Amino acid sequence: MNIGILTGGGDCPGLNAAIRGVTRRSIDNYNYNVVGIKNGWDGLVKGEVEALTLLSVSGILPKGGTILGTSRKNPLKKEEDLNKVKENIKKFDIDVLAVIGGDDTLSVADKLCEMGIQCVGMPKTIDNDISGTDYTFGFDTAVSIVTDAIDRLHTTAESHHRVMVIEVMGRHTGWIAVIAGIAGGADCILIPEVPFSISNMVKLIKQRQNRGKNFSIIVVAEGAKPEESDDYISSTGKVDDFGHKILGGIGELVGEAIEKESGVDTRVTKLGHIQRGGTPTAFDRVLATRMGVAAADLVRDKKFGYMVALQGNKITSIPIKEAISVQKKVDLELYDIAKVFFG
Ligand code: F6P
Repeated sequence: MNIGILTGGGDCPGLNAAIRGVTRRSIDNYNYNVVGIKNGWDGLVKGEVEALTLLSVSGILPKGGTILGTSRKNPLKKEEDLNKVKENIKKFDIDVLAVIGGDDTLSVADKLCEMGIQCVGMPKTIDNDISGTDYTFGFDTAVSIVTDAIDRLHTTAESHHRVMVIEVMGRHTGWIAVIAGIAGGADCILIPEVPFSISNMVKLIKQRQNRGKNFSIIVVAEGAKPEESDDYISSTGKVDDFGHKILGGIGELVGEAIEKESGVDTRVTKLGHIQRGGTPTAFDRVLATRMGVAAADLVRDKKFGYMVALQGNKITSIPIKEAISVQKKVDLELYDIAKVFFG
């Protein structure tokens, strides 16, 4: 049995732990051969493949990023790319693709499965928006980075009596914003799931001032939208291979509007890719390791078309199709808890 592992889409902490998990289980326990495909689907189009050995995955557990490289390449966009994918799977004698990705990367795996190519999946993304799994790895690390940033912004906000707006990642869902916002004691959290109004926010800021708190921390997910608009904010206007806008800029808009309407000195911090960098937390290392090992077990059990998932405290598996059918939105009961502390 030859397994080809690839990591696609945005990188996140825990990818290397997952690569190590699949590789160790496959070689040590099942005597499979494992190859690493470079730079996501792009490497399968170009035929960039290298052997993965016990030695090559040794020492990578705590490393951020992915030793295989990644890309946002969509190999289904052009027929010639898809043909190359098929040719290279044959050329490198790959029996199963072990695909580590978010919704875009996994949606390609799903389509390849329909074409008869055997795939298993592992859900990764700091956004935590894959259905059927309680957590994706990478999310916990991003939350801890954002929580630390909110703590730091508190002390400077309090000293200068300012409003601090912090823009965090979360393209279609506000998981990072809500969980880190609750952990960091945010005074308002804006998420894609709930359109916001600047005048409400200004009310909250005034309410705090009346309680003697003359600073506020506002956490904004990059995909948050004002009530009056249905468009995501993208300061660069760039679009990726899957047709998604590269988001960013909502923090600046919110900050400017708050300063204008409230008259309170306001500063904006965009955390950006710091949220995806560096070593994974212990939780993400363990989750990615468990998922990697479980993905090799899916291959053993010939459960092709399935993705490993965390449900409660157990690793289980669900059809990839089900996982990508709908984005896992923020639980509004959780958002209600965050709202208790607004203002
Ligand atoms: O998908 C994860 C994510 O970090 C999103 O939160 C964000 O919108 C996007 O990736 C940014 O991607 P890029 O790597 O293209 O900057």
